[in-house]
Amino acid sequence: MKQRPRATPEPRRVGKTKLHLVPPSSFSNAGADVLAAALRGFGRRNLSLALSGGSTPGPIYEALAGFPGIPWERIGIYFADERAVPPDDPASNYRLVRSALLERVPIPAESVHRMEAERPDLDEAAESYERRLPSRLDVLVLGIGEDGHTASLFPGSPNLRETARRVAPARSPSPPTERLTITPPVVLSAGRIFLFARGPAKADAVREALLGEADMSGCPARLARGGTWVVDTEAAAQLRP
Ligand code: 6PG
Repeated sequence: MKQRPRATPEPRRVGKTKLHLVPPSSFSNAGADVLAAALRGFGRRNLSLALSGGSTPGPIYEALAGFPGIPWERIGIYFADERAVPPDDPASNYRLVRSALLERVPIPAESVHRMEAERPDLDEAAESYERRLPSRLDVLVLGIGEDGHTASLFPGSPNLRETARRVAPARSPSPPTERLTITPPVVLSAGRIFLFARGPAKADAVREALLGEADMSGCPARLARGGTWVVDTEAAAQLRP
């Protein structure tokens, strides 16, 4: 079948990472375009898609909802992390994903696996989610914080040394402080990782995550190396041309 001309130019390679550098004006559409291409690439089998929250991915999810040919009926939705708030709280990642994507595409309700981070016992909530999480995520969407965190894996967190648990309670330096997060083994075993970063505030973190040393304790977003990054030119300002 003739490939549809891609809206997004081919990525450049930075080490093992595929880096799409895009103007701010086309960031959301470029992110949706590369994500849509990946989601169409699984033939007729079911697949798992884990999403992050925060302010960056919302417009990407909204754009993705308008892309054709995505097998939403075969996609299971999971979450990379969640804040310890009710699902209708403005800070909830689930709420963001529901309004930006789930309400706009034909995904069966039973295919959406929410992290119940509002439960009083976060250890129990983590164990419960771990039982629902596939042994290997097909597609994982990550963001990056100004401090280099990703999901709710923050610099210096003991979760960065976690090798057994796949979901764990986490503490964020910024509110909401209590969270649930996937751990490094889940990130590293994902089939495809996409990291989205936009805006000048992320320039330091993007440089550190992409070009800094390999140790991820200081910059957990280094876990996404080898994935596909879509970065706007403002967030890429500290990368060599
Ligand atoms: C969250 C996200 C988190 C996010 C970064 C970047 O729960 O906040 O999962 O990992 O990707 O914090 O957030 P922004 O996109 O808001 O900058």
